[in-house]
Parts: sequence; structure tokens; C-alpha cells
Amino acid sequence: AAIEKGGYDHFMLKEIHEQPETIRDCLRGRLLPEVGKIIMSGIENHLEALTNAHRMIIVACGTSWHAGLVAEYMIEELCRIPVEVEYASEFRYRNPIIHKGDVIIAISQSGETADTLVALENAKEKGAFIFGVVNVVGSSIARLSNAGAYTHAGPEIGVASTKAFTGQLAVLAMMALKIGLAKGTLMHDRYLALMQELADIPDKVREILKNTERVQQIAEKYKDANDFLYLGRGYNFPVALEGALKLKEISYIHAEGYPAAEMKHGPIALVDNQLPVVFVATKDKYYEKVISNVQEIKARKGIVIAIATEGDNTLPPMANDTLFVPETDEVLAPLLSVIPLQLLSYYVGVAKGYDVDKPRNLAKSVTVE
Ligand code: G6P
Repeated sequence: AAIEKGGYDHFMLKEIHEQPETIRDCLRGRLLPEVGKIIMSGIENHLEALTNAHRMIIVACGTSWHAGLVAEYMIEELCRIPVEVEYASEFRYRNPIIHKGDVIIAISQSGETADTLVALENAKEKGAFIFGVVNVVGSSIARLSNAGAYTHAGPEIGVASTKAFTGQLAVLAMMALKIGLAKGTLMHDRYLALMQELADIPDKVREILKNTERVQQIAEKYKDANDFLYLGRGYNFPVALEGALKLKEISYIHAEGYPAAEMKHGPIALVDNQLPVVFVATKDKYYEKVISNVQEIKARKGIVIAIATEGDNTLPPMANDTLFVPETDEVLAPLLSVIPLQLLSYYVGVAKGYDVDKPRNLAKSVTVE
């Protein structure tokens, strides 16, 4: 077992550290910035259905649903196609309205999640076109899909999803770039710039992974907190949700993720000098707004843990603790900002003495409803 874990204490830690390679594997042969091309046969063969989509409906569960939320921001911005993100378990039971011209994007690591599978079967019967973003080759959801793109993250053993999530984000980013360019909603120079940024992501993830000691210290410091709040805006809002989910799954600490501005409508009532608030606040168009949200938390004596862009001199002095990530385009920020949050949940779980690879009550793949 020690050999299987490649020298790491747990599969989860191994899989977190594999991400520079798994993201690279996902991009290999597809993302070709030197020639300005993205090659994905699943998209090329169905380019018309995808570019002419009136609406895209993303169906998923758990961490895959969070990847879907990031894709909503990507596709709406770059392709100008309206997107809805649905929990498969809700979607399947409410007789969903599906029109001709709707495209369903199914996101699933295992390709076997029962709710997702049945939701897709129903949608397919109604004539929906299904594009699968799946990790396990030949899985039920992969087979059911009309077209798709594998995430190529390799087998994920840890129950809490890590490398599958960043693989999903990489595939969804390439999709949005390719469709946006084909539609003409994404300008060629921005397309090329984003391609280059995406190609640089694996090395930037590697940079973040050099600094696990700092994450470990922060985990030790806050491991006895009863609750955590995770806040972010824009592309980092789904990352806040994912950070909170990771902490719940692995360390059994109650955590909530919220859009940073929405905290005024509830969560701010929880803030006191015992509550760690994780701000996912990398440099993007929301940055100034997030800073004022940080000030609101500080004014109520909350503890601020910041995920900030390297070189940021404003946020770190306001925060109790800061973890840095390299700069990138905001569209791709989740691929970096999620990494310290994966590590934080891992180290809190380990510090509390839990079996992070097999968290209580959770299954790797939920194949019953
Ligand atoms: C379970 C797993 C999660 C996963 C979710 C969806 O809850 O523990 O890590 O995100 O199922 O699984 P899928 O295989 O469809 O992505």
C-alpha cells in the first residue's frame, strides 16, 4: 500500500500532488498554443450543435457540480450561451423542460453516479444532446453521452475529489475557448492569451505545491475551530463552495461556502473572534469588492485566512494568515485557488487524526439514490 501511495501518507495527498501531471495529461495533444489550436474531436464532430446551443444545462453532483458552476461563468463569458447548473437529484424529478437546441453537459468523475445517470437518461429520451465530461473511460455516463471529452486524471482513490476536479476545469476551459472562438464571441487575441495561460497552469500548480509547510501550520492553528466560512466572488465563488465541501468531507468541521457579498444576508451573524473566514481573493475584477468584504469581517473581529495572488500587498496585512497562488487570468483562477484549499482540508483532517482517504459515511461513488 505504501508503494501504491507513491511515498505519500495518503492517496488524497498523492492525488493533490499529481495535479501538475494530471492537468498536463488532460491538455496533452489537445491544447496547442504554438499553433493556436485546440483539438477535441468530441467538440469538432458536433460543433454545430454546440455553437448553436440556445442554452446549456450542466448536470452533476458534489465536487463535479462545483466544476459545473465554474463552467457556467466560463461559458457565459466566453461563448455568451446561457447556462444553468443543476443538481442531478433535483433535475431528474421535476420533469425538466428541455427544448430542441439545448445541450446538456454531464460532469462526473466516476461516470456512475446514479442520480446523474438517470437524469441524463431522462433528458436523452426527451431528445437532449448530451456532452459528457467524465474521468472513468467506458463508464455508464461516458457510454450514454452523445459526445464528450475525458478528463484523463487517472484513477482517483481518495474519496474527496481533487485531481478529477482540476481535470474537469481544464476540459471545461478548453471547451469554452473552442466554442467561443467558433461562435465569434471570443476574440482571437484573448483566445490565444487564455490558451497560453492554460498551458502554464501545471507549472503554477507545482509552485503552489512547494509550499505545503505553510498550509500545514495554518491547519494546526485552526484545527479546533467549530465552523469555517468560505467566501469568494465570480470565478472564485464556486471555489469557496468547494473549499467548504472539502473541509466538511475530510475534517468533519462544519463549513459553509457563500458568495462573498451574500454574507451580509445571513452568515455575517455568525462572525466572532472564533470563526475562521477563508477569503478566496485573487486579483480579478472583483478584487476591490472582496477587500471591502474582508474589512467587514475584520470589523466584527473575525479571523481572516486569505488566498491571495503573489505580489498582493494589500490583502496580506489585513489577514491573519495568507496563502499565495501565482497570477493567472481570472477565468482560470479556480485551477490554482482550489489547491491550497484541498491541502488545508487534508492537513486539518490529518491533524485531527481522521482517516482522510476513507471519511466516515461517504462513498467514492454514489451508485444508489
Ligand atoms: C461522491 C464523491 C464526491 C463526488 C460526487 C460526484 O459524493 O464522494 O467526491 O464529487 O460523488 O461523483 P461523480 O463521480 O459523479 O463526479
